[in-house]
This record gives sequence, C-alpha cells and structure tokens, in this order.
Amino acid sequence: MSRNWTGELIYEGKAKRVYRVNDEFLVMEFKDEVTAFDGARKEHAPSKGKLAAAQTVFLMGLLGKYGIRNHLVDWDGDRKILVRSLRMIPIEVIVRNYAYGSFLKRMPLVKSMTKFSKPLIEFHLKSDELHDPLITTDDIIEAGLASQEQLNEIMGIALRINEILNNYMASKGLTLVDFKLEFGFDKSNNLVLADELSGDTIRVLINGRHLDKELFRRGSSSADLVKAYEEMNKILGIS
Ligand SMILES: Nc1ncnc2c1ncn2[C@@H]1O[C@H](COP(=O)(O)OP(=O)(O)OP(=O)(O)O)[C@@H](O)[C@H]1O
Ligand SMILES: [Mg+2]
Repeated sequence: MSRNWTGELIYEGKAKRVYRVNDEFLVMEFKDEVTAFDGARKEHAPSKGKLAAAQTVFLMGLLGKYGIRNHLVDWDGDRKILVRSLRMIPIEVIVRNYAYGSFLKRMPLVKSMTKFSKPLIEFHLKSDELHDPLITTDDIIEAGLASQEQLNEIMGIALRINEILNNYMASKGLTLVDFKLEFGFDKSNNLVLADELSGDTIRVLINGRHLDKELFRRGSSSADLVKAYEEMNKILGIS
C-alpha cells in the first residue's frame, strides 16, 4: 500500500489532525505543536509530531504482540499514521500507578508520587469546555456511552495494558506514573484501543526526571520537550 494517504480533513484537535480516507480508515497526523492547560500555553515544536507518532506506533505494536486489539494499521515513517476508523467512546480512561497530576488536586491527603496499593482506573468525560471532568461508571451507563459489561472489559484491558507497559518500561529503567487511553468500537462492535500512546499521554520518569509533556506543563521550552521525547525514544529502543 502506498503511504501517500489522502483524505478530507474531518477534525483538528490540539495534538492531531484527522483525515477520512474512506469508510474504513482514517489518517491521524501528529502536529509539531505542544499545548498545555487546555491550550492556554501553546508552542511550535519541530519534530515533536514524528517523535510522538513513533512512540504511538512502537507502543501500539508492543501491545499488539500481547493481543491488545488496537486501531493502528500503518505509519508513513513521519508524522502520519493510518488507523481503523472507529465509533469513539468520548471518555478518557486513566490508569495511575503513582499519585500525580489531577489526582493530587482532588485528593490532597495523598502525597505526590505515593505508589498506590493497586493501579487506579478512572474515567473522564472528553470535554474541553468542562475540563475533562472525572465521571462515574454510573454516569457513563446512564448517558448511554457504554454498558457495565463494556466498562468491565475496558477496565480489564486497561489493567492488562498497564502490566505490559510497566514491565517494558521497568526493563528499560523507566517508571510508569500514569497514562491515558481512549477506546472505540469497530463495525463488529469490538472494543478497540485508539488514539495515541506518547509522551503527551503517558507520564514516564527516568531517575525521577520526566520524559513526558509534564516538562512543558512545568515551564520547560518546547525544544527541551523535544529533547526529552528523543531521549525517551532512544531508551525505549525506537529507531
Ligand atoms: N481510530 C479512531 N477513530 C476515530 N476517531 C479517533 C480514532 N482515534 C482517535 N480518534 C479521535 O481523533 C481525535 C484526535 O485529535 P486530538 O487528540 O488532537 O484532539 P482531542 O483529543 O479531541 O482534543 P485534545 O486537543 O484535547 O487532544 C480525538 O478526538 C480522538 O478521540
Ligand atoms: Mg487528544
């Protein structure tokens, strides 16, 4: 298959542009941009798109080897990936191994970077307007976004993904703090892992130092963020 995929631009988010190739496939183009605080801080970040695409391709590939169904079909070797077009569930599934980020804001009784007794899973509604609020499984079911059975399946897959990523990261001396997942349904109503797995959506530390977007949230330049993504790729063994 040629990798000069073309299609109509159907969506532009902060991190990616989405093009419709046909009924079955989409192209996701990772932008050379980094944003934080719901877009309030935004900078051009040359080569970030390719680095994040490479991370996504590598990690989806790793998960695929362990039987985790995901949307990735192909990569152009640069900023674009070809994916299966899914009916997305508009929620973010977050898995946490250590107390950090929005967890600390809502639960100040736990100290930063405390290791949880077991991985925590939480659901947030994807809504920039509402700042992606934490929601309950009952909220999701009542809104008709997913059934209890589907949520159980999502939680099982999310924990399995955590195990796989944790083991891999640990083997490279990295600490997996937390990460965000998105899921959709394919035409046969199978749950499929979608979106991206990159430094934008995964918090990962090397000797206590962030190699992820947290650097930018805390005031580092986009150039330093790109350096951190390069370092992450080197450590993970991504060419
Ligand atoms: N396989 C897929 N099929 C259909 N839509 C997908 C698939 N994978 C990801 N998406 C959607 O494509 C969009 C990617 O864009 P992007 O991540 O830039 O924006 P966003 O998540 O809407 O907002 P934000 O700017 O907060 O990230 C998301 O809305 C995501 O839910
Ligand atoms: Mg997104």
